[in-house]
Amino acid sequence: MKKFLKIIYILLLVVAVGLVSGYFYMQNKYPIAIEAPSIKIELTEQRLERGKYLFTSVAGCADCHSTRDWSKLTGPIIPGTEGKGGDKFDETIGLPGSFPAKNITPAGIGGWTDGEIYRAITSGISKDGEPLFPIMPYPNFAKMDKEDIYSIIAYVRTLAPIQNEVPKHDAKFPMNIIMRTIPAPADHQSIPERSNSIAYGKYMVTAAGCGDCHTQSDKGVPIPGKELAGGVEFNVGPWVNTTANLTPDNETGIGKMTRDDFIKRFKACGTPEYKNTSWKEGEFNTIMPWTLLANMSESDLGSIYDYLRTIPPVSNKVEKFRLPSKF
Ligand code: HEC
Ligand code: HEC
Repeated sequence: MKKFLKIIYILLLVVAVGLVSGYFYMQNKYPIAIEAPSIKIELTEQRLERGKYLFTSVAGCADCHSTRDWSKLTGPIIPGTEGKGGDKFDETIGLPGSFPAKNITPAGIGGWTDGEIYRAITSGISKDGEPLFPIMPYPNFAKMDKEDIYSIIAYVRTLAPIQNEVPKHDAKFPMNIIMRTIPAPADHQSIPERSNSIAYGKYMVTAAGCGDCHTQSDKGVPIPGKELAGGVEFNVGPWVNTTANLTPDNETGIGKMTRDDFIKRFKACGTPEYKNTSWKEGEFNTIMPWTLLANMSESDLGSIYDYLRTIPPVSNKVEKFRLPSKF
């Protein structure tokens, strides 16, 4: 018996040593070394205009890094909070830890080089070399045109500085280890010609992260065959959304929606009246960033529609809104 216990003891020790050295190995080896490039991004008029469009209307930066008014339908951004951060992404919405959105105004990252901001947006590595949790959609931004990223950085430099101390993220085990392995070098693609509406639409879908909400995934990996077929549940607290099926399936997707209907569905959410619709507990609400995406140009929304027509139809009926079950 004593011998048996001794063996168990030794085995446990081996496992513990393995875990500890594994932990230090991961801490040292990951995230992989990606140098922040030495770049100086000129703030041209063209870049500032494009950067503002992407920041406020497409890539969700404004959505996640500002304060939202959830006493209103779809939680529009409170003017004057753009970039200040502090929005909570934590266990209450099912995340493995707490990952507050950072202050990305000049009061937060004004001291960073352009290269450091570029590396954070495209590779998910903060100034101090620590990895960012991919709720910050850097794997999408890594696939955008380098010039688009430069435009976003140019625009970020011009945000009004807002003092707001945001706490560091706190990732729970094993995510604190796993997330070290996710940062990767940028894998830019060139922005497709506008005349190629389908390819252009696909690019905008990546930039806007539609798939992050509308594609079911298993441990962060999209499930093959479920691309943009919806069905991802978000338990917000006062209500539960399940994302819509964006495939061209006639019965359960957007098969019967015309291009014109699609564009109008978005544009209807951009009016001052819509943005001012108050919301009361028990009523419909949604995390779909309607008010932000409504500012996209009709041509870009049309391209997104054109692209969505080309993906395979998937039958998946979803209930887009429900109240949480009380127990
Ligand atoms: C879905 C929400 C979301 C979107 C969209 C988003 N971010 Fe973030 N971002 C975050 C969160 C959360 C963090 C903090 C992650 C962490 O600490 O692990 C972060 C971190 C960052 C950081 C690092 C700051 C630091 O102090 O380490 C930068 C820079 C940044 N985001 C810029 C942007 C820009 C620019 C865009 C748009 C192109 C954008 N983000 C879009 C949620 C988002
Ligand atoms: C933060 C998560 C999120 C993101 C990002 C997101 N959506 Fe949604 N979307 C939802 C949810 C939740 C619903 C269902 C509730 C509703 O209709 O508002 C929805 C509904 C929709 C609908 C309505 C479909 C119908 O049948 O009524 C369309 C169209 C749509 N999304 C398109 C898009 C496109 C295109 C993008 C990217 C440009 C996108 N969504 C990005 C969460 C998201």
